[in-house]
Amino acid sequence: MSTQSKGKKITTSVIRGMKKKGEKITMLTAYDYAMASLLDEVGVEMLLVGDSLGMVVLGYESTLPVTMNDMLHHTRAVSRGANNAMVVADLPFLSYQCSVEEAVRNAGRFLQEAGAHAVKLEGGREIAESVKRMTVSGIPVVGHLGLTPQSVQQFGGFKVQGKGDAAAQRIMEDAKIIEEAGAFSVVLECVPAPLAQRITDDLAIPTIGIGAGAGCDGQVLVVNDMLGIYERFTPKFVKKYANLSDNIRGAVKQYIEEVKNGTFPDQDHSFL
Ligand code: KIV
Repeated sequence: MSTQSKGKKITTSVIRGMKKKGEKITMLTAYDYAMASLLDEVGVEMLLVGDSLGMVVLGYESTLPVTMNDMLHHTRAVSRGANNAMVVADLPFLSYQCSVEEAVRNAGRFLQEAGAHAVKLEGGREIAESVKRMTVSGIPVVGHLGLTPQSVQQFGGFKVQGKGDAAAQRIMEDAKIIEEAGAFSVVLECVPAPLAQRITDDLAIPTIGIGAGAGCDGQVLVVNDMLGIYERFTPKFVKKYANLSDNIRGAVKQYIEEVKNGTFPDQDHSFL
C-alpha cells in the first residue's frame, strides 16, 4: 500500500522519508479542481500546478506568458481538490528572477492566498539565495534543473541538457547548491539517465525525474500528455497511458448525432 492510499497528508517530511525508505514518489501536474480530485483520490503524492498550464491549458507556445494571477487562480482550484496530496505551485517567469525580496513575496502568496504547500522554481546557483530566504521564511521549495522551460529562448529549443562533462558537472554542482539552500526535493528535466542517477545518489533530498530515466526517486509527467489530451507536441519521454482525445471526439460526435436526430434527450433524461 502506498503512503498516500493510507489517507495520510503528504508533507515535506513524508516526501523525504520516502527516499530513505526507497519508496518511489509520484507527481503529476494538475490545473483544476476536477483533475486534482481524481489524482488525489487514486493516490498521487504530489500535484504540481505547473506553468506548463500556459501550453497545455491556455494554448501559448511556451510557458513564458504565464502570470502570477494565472498561477494563483489555478492553484486555488487544485488546492480545493487535494485532500491528501501535496500541492506544489510553479513560480512563473519573472516572478522570482528580479530580486530575492520579490521572489519570497511571490512564493509566499501561493501559501497564503492559494492553499499551496510548496513552490517550485527553475535554476541553480543563480536562485540559491532566494531558495534560502524562502525556506527560512517557512516556504517549502522544490528545485528544477536540467531543461528549465522558462529558459527555452536561451537553450534554443526544448533540448536535452547536461550532455558532456562540463555541462553535467554544472548540473551536479547546482543540485548540491539547491539542496544546501534548503530545497526539500528537486525536479530533473531532460537530462541523461546516468547523470540523473549520479545526482540522485549524491543528494539526501529526493529527485523527481521527467525525461531523466528510472534512477530518480520519483517521476513527474504533464497529466495532459500522459492522458493523451494535448496533441500539439509529445516529447519522447512521455508515455501515453490513455488517449482521451479520441474518447472525447467519439463522445461529442455521438452527442451531436443524437441531438440532431432527436434521440437525446430521451424520457430517462427528462422531467415528466
Ligand atoms: O510546468 C511543469 O509542468 C513542469 C514539469 C514539466 C516538471 O515544470
